[in-house]
Amino acid sequence: MAKIDFTGRVAIVTGAGAGLGRSHALELARRGAKVVVNDLGGSRDGVGSGDAAANKVVDEIKAFGGAAVPNYDSVATVKGGESIVKTAIDAFSKLDILVCNAGILRDKSFPKMDEEAWDAVIAVHLKGTYCCARPAFIHMREQGYGRIVLTTSAAGLIGNFGQANYGAAKMGICGLANVLKLEGAKYNIKVNVLAPGAATRMTEDVMPPEMFAKMAPELVTPAVVYMCSEQCQDTGFYINASAGEFSRSNIVKSPDVFIENPTAEDIAANWSRITDLTNAKFYNSILETIGEGGLVRPSK
Ligand code: NAI
Repeated sequence: MAKIDFTGRVAIVTGAGAGLGRSHALELARRGAKVVVNDLGGSRDGVGSGDAAANKVVDEIKAFGGAAVPNYDSVATVKGGESIVKTAIDAFSKLDILVCNAGILRDKSFPKMDEEAWDAVIAVHLKGTYCCARPAFIHMREQGYGRIVLTTSAAGLIGNFGQANYGAAKMGICGLANVLKLEGAKYNIKVNVLAPGAATRMTEDVMPPEMFAKMAPELVTPAVVYMCSEQCQDTGFYINASAGEFSRSNIVKSPDVFIENPTAEDIAANWSRITDLTNAKFYNSILETIGEGGLVRPSK
């Protein structure tokens, strides 16, 4: 297996001042990428800002001879996203890799989930991914090459009590990737999604200490590094990575059950057939469902 090397490549990692983002940025830089270390420098719930977090990681990269510049913009605005991408182009003349990783938490059970908690989390995760990915995608399309890694969570892919805002944002990111993989295909832009699990300030009070000790961010980063590489030819994959364990999640569809003039009672009678995932299939595009009885009914 050829060594994965990013010499000549330029990367942005958002939220790279701590936790997983820091680990991704350091490893990309160790392997030769020039890195924009973006971080707003706020608290876990997204309050406050500062330049110390991004600066510290830039210093760490420079200490081993790597190339990095800081950026302190919030990912949550269009202006911020554009400025983050501009930082890469101004400093290093291009952009090959974008890792959208920045994130915050405002956990509350759904009845207590007020508009502020909802909007803040959607703004950083879902809108923040749009704000950074769009200017990056435009640049990558022009150059005919790009690797984008977005960050989802098991809280969305599977579900987690008290994280309605976060789960919704994280599944929105998967929907975005499902479309970008198609729009990027012609331009050699691969868009994959990471569902990490790691010991960071985000998880320090939800994981038991013995589990926390085995979940260094560095055990997740190799999956990100591979998905950022030229070697990675897959796109639209959701990859789970935690404590050195790696797997793929997916959305599948069961075979259609055709019912002529269906009534609610017919649905009840056929519920177990309709919901049986035994022969469920993955579809790369909505176009693939046409002719399978999905969008076009079989002729009688
Ligand atoms: P973290 O809190 O250690 O790091 C997140 C970083 O994002 C912080 O340095 C923070 O300052 C930065 N940030 C927050 N809002 C920002 C904004 N508007 N603009 C720019 N930077 C901003 O958290 P962690 O655990 O490293 O999380 C990284 C990503 O992984 C997040 O998207 C998170 O949702 C996701 N994730 C983490 C899991 C875990 O087990 N740690 C589990 C599932 C998903």
